[in-house]
This record gives sequence, structure tokens and C-alpha cells, in this order.
Amino acid sequence: MNAAYSTDDHYIHPSILNADFMDIGGELDKIATADSVHVDVMDNHFVPNLTFGPSMVSQIVERSSIGVDAHLMIADADREAPAYAEAGADSVTFHLEAAGAPIKLARDLRRKNTQAGVALRPATPIGPLLDVLGEFDLLLLMTVEPGFGGQSFLTSMLPKIRRARRAISEANLELSIQVDGGVSRETIERCAEAGANVFVAGSAIYRAQDAAEEISALRDLARAHTAH
Ligand code: DX5
Ligand code: ZN
Repeated sequence: MNAAYSTDDHYIHPSILNADFMDIGGELDKIATADSVHVDVMDNHFVPNLTFGPSMVSQIVERSSIGVDAHLMIADADREAPAYAEAGADSVTFHLEAAGAPIKLARDLRRKNTQAGVALRPATPIGPLLDVLGEFDLLLLMTVEPGFGGQSFLTSMLPKIRRARRAISEANLELSIQVDGGVSRETIERCAEAGANVFVAGSAIYRAQDAAEEISALRDLARAHTAH
């Protein structure tokens, strides 16, 4: 189990969504210098795509030398999310839109020694979460519509990141902001400047010639543009 994220540090989480599923072990080895592997769980209901379940996540946990960050794009998070904590993921992030009782769920996850993350689709406003941010370890602000890798970064999400970071600082909370979707050398600096400190990158890393070099370039750009 990894230590909790520090808001003063920057973390690069490669997404294996666009990796070679026939060689997940080899694809994990390529990103061993990253901070955690981001595993996109999709159920073909919450999003129009289908990927992994808890047993695959548990095998990734066994095989991975770095932390495992599970991003659940699934309906009925209240019922399904605890299984991913039990599978050994270091953090489990569910969508606010898919949770009936998000605070209860976050507390359940934390009780299972997993960091609890809450995610918002691009069009979901941050307002309703602002008073309960202390219940979570991670706030995931989607910078594309969830479902697929390789989409273009939504620049219109930058003010939302800024607003969230301001609210977190004002409340004196240790809460990391993760951005996911279209994060690359072209967009990571703006995300870091706005206040994100955990960066998911799928195609940018897996389509690079050298994944380790891409991870370190992304980390350097993020560190150089820290918001605080
Ligand atoms: C999209 C997923 C992302 C995806 C990001 O629904 O949540 O994690 O893998 O891929 P890129 O970095 O290619 O946008
Ligand atoms: Zn994701």
C-alpha cells in the first residue's frame, strides 16, 4: 500500500487502456518508473466500453511493482466499488454520477485501507462536492468524456481545476487533484498550473517510443509548473 498522495508532489499514472492487453505484464514493466498504474474499469453501462473486473485488477496488483490506481467507470458504484479495494488497489475512484451515497462509500473504501477518490464527468459541476471534500483522498476531474483513450483534452476544464484547488487550499485539506484525458507534453503544464498534481496519461505514454523517457518528461514539466 502506497503512502497517501501529498499535494506537494506530482505523480504520473500511465493508463493501460491503450496498452497491449495480450501482454499486460510486459506493458507494466515499461512503466515501472511511474508512480502508479491507472486501471480503467468500464462496464458498458456507465460508459460505452468494457474492460476489466476485480479479478483482473487483483492480478495487476500482484504483478505490478508500482501502486495501482483503479478508475471505476461503472454504474452502481455503491455496490461494486468495495470489490476493487478488496482486490488490493491502492486507490479506488468512483464517479459521483454513479454513487447513491458517496460519503458512505468513501468511508467504506477508507476502512478497507484504500484511498478514496471521487470523479466528475466534464459537465458535472464541482459545487455540490465542495462542502464534503474532506471525505476523499483524491478528486478526479475528467478532461475528456470518459470511455476511450486518445481523445482531445478539454481546455474548458481548466477553470474547474482552478476552482477546486482554491477550495481545497481554503479548507486546508490534503486532497490531490487528478486529471485524466488528453494529458500530454502539450497540456500537462496548464493542468499543473491550474492545480492538478496527479496526471493520468494513456496514449501519450504508450504511443511514445520510450515510455520511461515520456514519464520523466511529463513529471519534469508538471514539477516546473506547480500551482503552489
Ligand atoms: C478515459 C480514461 C482514461 C484514458 C486516458 O475514459 O479514463 O484514463 O485511458 O487516455 P488518454 O491519455 O489517451 O486520453
Ligand atoms: Zn481513467
